[in-house]
Amino acid sequence: MAYVVTEACIRCKYMDCVEVCPVDCFYEGESMLVINPNECIDCGVCEPECPAEAIVPDTEPGLEKWAELNAKYSAEWPNITVKGETPADADEWKGKDGKFDQFFSPAPGKGS
Ligand code: SF4
Ligand code: F3S
Repeated sequence: MAYVVTEACIRCKYMDCVEVCPVDCFYEGESMLVINPNECIDCGVCEPECPAEAIVPDTEPGLEKWAELNAKYSAEWPNITVKGETPADADEWKGKDGKFDQFFSPAPGKGS
């Protein structure tokens, strides 16, 4: 079991999550962060920290796509452990639908 980052993170990237993770298992893409399911210890500490409510346990139904995406890209993107600069328009994209189709990028972020 692990927690997964979902569509709500795209274009928001508040990064409060990375500061609280005891095992530093967040990885940064250009458009969102993901969690490495092999490293996550399922502590749940990050879930309430995300202002976009983007982090959920993988036991919730309908999360297969996001679980796969977290597993795939956490193996490709750089680790991030320190909160970076949140996009200036993050609040405008909070809670918006359809962000994956429009804005998901497989490109890596900078990491930290
Ligand atoms: Fe890190 Fe715990 Fe969140 Fe997993 S559930 S990503 S271990 S803070
Ligand atoms: Fe994304 Fe929420 Fe973390 S928006 S970067 S999962 S705090």
